[in-house]
Amino acid sequence: MSPRAVRWKTTRTRFDVADLTLDLVLLDGFEANVAHDAQRRRGRPDTRPGADISPMFGVPWPGAATLGTMLATGPDLDGTTVLELGCGLAIPGLIAALRGATVVATDVHPDAATLLAANARHLGVPVTWSRWDWRDPAPPEAAGRFDQVLASDVLYDGSLAAPLAQAFADHLTPDGTGWLTDPGRPWIGEFVREAEARGLTLTEDLAESGGDVVHRFRVTAGAARG
Ligand SMILES: C[S@@+](CC[C@H](N)C(=O)[O-])C[C@H]1O[C@@H](n2cnc3c(N)ncnc32)[C@H](O)[C@@H]1O
Repeated sequence: MSPRAVRWKTTRTRFDVADLTLDLVLLDGFEANVAHDAQRRRGRPDTRPGADISPMFGVPWPGAATLGTMLATGPDLDGTTVLELGCGLAIPGLIAALRGATVVATDVHPDAATLLAANARHLGVPVTWSRWDWRDPAPPEAAGRFDQVLASDVLYDGSLAAPLAQAFADHLTPDGTGWLTDPGRPWIGEFVREAEARGLTLTEDLAESGGDVVHRFRVTAGAARG
């Protein structure tokens, strides 16, 4: 049987991020969609690469609002380039695009593309999508180096620390800045070690997002520049 797209239950929700209001299509509840998906797929496995990963892509995570607020309130991004890793709904990437950046948003799950396309179209901004699992070589859309590399809430498995650090090292320009937000999962120390081993410099601060504490890491190629 040929693989087919999973039909998720979606809803439309308004998000206020700084002084921006984003009207987004997203999954109508994470757990409800996991159950719905399991029922629909019984006996009909979805064999597309990445489709076996849970639909974390379809709901917003606190770190996305933290990066989104930072981008919405920061300097204009006209003429700059942004790569988002594990973008899910790509709230930071969409805001970067609204602020003028040229954005490539990537995620391992193929169905992230559908929501991203709908939301980018609704907001009237171009965002290039590419399916990318950072444990694999980068696809052409994500090749090269970017002024900013963004990742919010993507370290939910220890095996991801090294490939994520490598993605920052490979895709930041020498003067670029990377941002990683994380709710404080156990693998963040490993990510810091892996990033520093690749010549990256990290600084951390804490932010608040809807009552959640978010660890925000600024990543630069500082050590390599010196
Ligand atoms: C917790 S969600 C966060 C989504 C979004 N960044 C946010 O903050 O709202 C984790 C995301 O990372 C993606 N992801 C997980 N492992 C990945 C990998 N190896 N390569 C690329 N994306 C990955 C998932 O599909 C999911 O969209």
